[in-house]
Amino acid sequence: MSSGYLQFPLFLLLIHSILNLSSGFGSMGPISAAFGKNRFFCAIDASGKQEVICWGKNNSISSTNSALFGDIPAMFALTGGNGFMCGILANTSTVYCWELLGSNNDVLVPDIYRNTAYTHVAAGKSHVCAIRGSYFSDNDWGTIDCWEIVARSNSSLSSLPSSLYYDESITNLVFRKVVSGDGFSCGEVREGGLVCWGPEATTLGVSGVSEVFVSLASGMESVCGISGASGEVKCWGENQSFIGSPVGIRFVSLAAGAKHFCGIREDNHGIECWGHFNISAVPKGSGFMAIASSDVTTCGIREDDLVLDCWFVDVTSAPDYDPPLQLCSPGLCTLSSCAEGTFAFNASTLSETDLTSLCVRKDLKICSPCGSNCSEGFFLSSPCSENADRVCTGCSLCQNSSCWDVCKLQSTPASHKKHEQDLQRFVLIVGSSALGLLLLLISWCLLPCMKGSRKEEGTKKSLASCIGKVESEKHINADPFPPLSVTPCIGTAQVFRLSELKDATNGFKEFNELGRGSYGFVYKAVLADGRQVAVKRANAATIIHTNSRDFEMELEVLCNLRHGNIVNLLGYCSEMGERLLVYEYMPHGTLHDHLHGGLSPLNWSRRLKITMQAAKGLEFLHMEPVPPIVHRDVKTSNILLDSDWVARIADFGLLGPNERELSGDIRTDVYSFGIVLLEILSGRKACDRDYMPPSIVEWAVPLIRHGKAAATIDRNVALPKNVEPLLKLADIAELTLRENPSERPCMSDVATWLEQILKEGLIL
Ligand SMILES: *[C@@H]1O[C@H](CO)[C@@H](O)[C@H](O)[C@H]1NC(C)=O
Ligand SMILES: *[C@@H]1O[C@H](CO)[C@@H](O)[C@H](O)[C@H]1NC(C)=O
Ligand SMILES: *[C@@H]1O[C@H](CO)[C@@H](O)[C@H](O)[C@H]1NC(C)=O
Ligand SMILES: *[C@@H]1O[C@H](CO)[C@@H](O)[C@H](O)[C@H]1NC(C)=O
Ligand SMILES: *[C@@H]1O[C@H](CO)[C@@H](O)[C@H](O)[C@H]1NC(C)=O
Ligand SMILES: *[C@@H]1O[C@H](CO)[C@@H](O)[C@H](O)[C@H]1NC(C)=O
Ligand SMILES: *[C@@H]1O[C@H](CO)[C@@H](O)[C@H](O)[C@H]1NC(C)=O
Ligand SMILES: *[C@@H]1O[C@H](CO)[C@@H](O)[C@H](O)[C@H]1NC(C)=O
Repeated sequence: MSSGYLQFPLFLLLIHSILNLSSGFGSMGPISAAFGKNRFFCAIDASGKQEVICWGKNNSISSTNSALFGDIPAMFALTGGNGFMCGILANTSTVYCWELLGSNNDVLVPDIYRNTAYTHVAAGKSHVCAIRGSYFSDNDWGTIDCWEIVARSNSSLSSLPSSLYYDESITNLVFRKVVSGDGFSCGEVREGGLVCWGPEATTLGVSGVSEVFVSLASGMESVCGISGASGEVKCWGENQSFIGSPVGIRFVSLAAGAKHFCGIREDNHGIECWGHFNISAVPKGSGFMAIASSDVTTCGIREDDLVLDCWFVDVTSAPDYDPPLQLCSPGLCTLSSCAEGTFAFNASTLSETDLTSLCVRKDLKICSPCGSNCSEGFFLSSPCSENADRVCTGCSLCQNSSCWDVCKLQSTPASHKKHEQDLQRFVLIVGSSALGLLLLLISWCLLPCMKGSRKEEGTKKSLASCIGKVESEKHINADPFPPLSVTPCIGTAQVFRLSELKDATNGFKEFNELGRGSYGFVYKAVLADGRQVAVKRANAATIIHTNSRDFEMELEVLCNLRHGNIVNLLGYCSEMGERLLVYEYMPHGTLHDHLHGGLSPLNWSRRLKITMQAAKGLEFLHMEPVPPIVHRDVKTSNILLDSDWVARIADFGLLGPNERELSGDIRTDVYSFGIVLLEILSGRKACDRDYMPPSIVEWAVPLIRHGKAAATIDRNVALPKNVEPLLKLADIAELTLRENPSERPCMSDVATWLEQILKEGLIL
């Protein structure tokens, strides 16, 4: 036992507000793990009700599935022991413990302690120690109660009061935090310093330790703490468990596995692990708010979206944890105000929810430590404030010298993939900020708005171009291409003058170009009346290969098609041998560029709407025209987004009628649409050589068929609280991707199902 006098009030206030973040075996936090054969994880969810989500080895099991865990009441904090978990109840501040298959409904707290309120609890291998006091009181110092958890003959657990964890040296001490391992507990005492007790306590070699620790975590036979003075890690006990512990790095949180430790860095909230651990398993790129370790697994709550992520001591070991996709609470709810160096987590910044607080009581808040730096590939665009963590922005948005250095330094010969990921997640808003929004807006304006799509040469020969019309008769003699016999689309499409479109595109100047395809260029044009339109201008090769009679008929079809989910033809022009088609302008560009090309990432509600709208557009093309229009090139770059972010199918129906008849089954479009669904769901490209297998279909369909659809969901955007709609989306994709075309649904079915999903599940 020892004493020290490091009790500067401000210092302690800071410590107080972050001491509860660490968790793992034997310490307390918003996420915790039960060790051993019956291991499982639990976390407090972000519903604002502080409900507990638990998941086991094989599959995700939420608290709503009471078969494996019983009905777990709302909790303030969690701590895991060997095969059991304890928590402090949100309504009474008493302790409640449960186990996997907790059918016997025993709260695993001896009768004499059941009605006692506790501020802190720590489960060890087979004992629990807790500090008396109300969770709501400002005073979190209290005396300690400990009890044992023992296995009955039928191997279910029960609790009994214990003298093993009492000795005279501790009964009179007042503690503030406690951790428990295998046969020992350690705590911080008011007199200052760390004290350990229990039958195995002496083997740790903790004595004369007078420091203050902001966080403690204990493994089976070891304990580590974050020094309040240096922010660095100090460890005691069996030394293989903490071999290679980091030096010179400040931490804010720790978690202990059986033979390894992991910590959250203070600067960028990244993860470091040491002990019996393969370093290449550490997650990179994302910051974390809380972590917990089981024997060989560590799970954490990511700071950008509060989604769970798990990793294993050895990258080669088969993942045995598949965490649920619910959003989790990033910290513990406390009554005290947030100290310097911390910020109050603002629940309303979570996308897809309308929460105002993550805590059951409105007077409670979550104080989390501020970050001061960003992970590689991101620069710090705004510092931490009282109400929001620092904001990290992707280096792709670095525009001046303020971030040049950090981004330049970090642009190592990183793989193309890495760069793309950065682009996709280019604004990592930890706590949404005006700056983040501004950056989003800027990026939309700077990037190209519409891309012409490339068609395979030969698949579509008669393409966008223009048709001669009556006014151009004076050019006929000079025109090598015969004029059209009739003026198509009278009353539905506007006939434009060439000079008009020339002016509107600044003489078809490069800077107005949106893209090019085998048919020619696509230009953005502003008409004299101010309307923005997209103009497709056929190149010479296209015109020479186009039979104007076929083209006329095609134009007649296109002009009469009108639907809110296709890019509608507004008019055309045919003069001087030119063929120009004038389309509605789509200011938000292609779906492809939002998913893969660095335009703003789309959230789930928008993505789901886009799937439904695109399906309706295709359904229309399949159902309305006679004969039906088979698109034959359904892909994300042919799905455009209009000014209201509504999806529109582009680049259809430019086949000659004969080709249309030959083009076969409309269910080839259904298959292609399935690929689009997978791209929307996963954020992956249809074919990506950075993955094995590169084909999205070969990768995703087996996962979906094996009930692992959750693994295909894009983790680079914040997930909705309810992921059910996304799992259904995966199921629909699977159906559309059946090898046998007759097993594929038709677009009408797909559109109806997607509409249903939107109606049912989505939490905005
Ligand atoms: C996990 O899977 C294994 C084999 O698939 C099975 O034996 C075991 O009972 C499962 N455990 C749980 C908790 O479902
Ligand atoms: C607190 O919650 C527990 C578990 O839901 C319940 O059994 C108990 O009756 C509640 N106590 C009070 C005072 O509401
Ligand atoms: C184990 O035995 C106890 C009584 O000794 C009983 O209360 C409990 O329900 C039993 N558990 C199981 C899982 O059979
Ligand atoms: C680890 O502990 C063993 C004894 O338990 C000791 O012999 C060894 O020197 C220690 N290693 C280090 C690196 O401290
Ligand atoms: C860590 O994992 C990597 C990748 O599987 C492997 O190449 C390396 O040998 C492992 N290192 C250790 C120390 O196990
Ligand atoms: C929380 O975020 C919302 C939305 O971003 C904002 O309107 C509100 O002012 C924030 N609250 C605090 C206390 O900063
Ligand atoms: C911030 O992190 C980057 C690496 O991500 C590192 O190069 C840089 O030195 C850090 N800056 C500070 C001030 O710690
Ligand atoms: C750099 O650009 C950011 C916005 O992108 C702006 O907030 C900041 O003031 C600029 N800094 C300098 C030195 O121009």
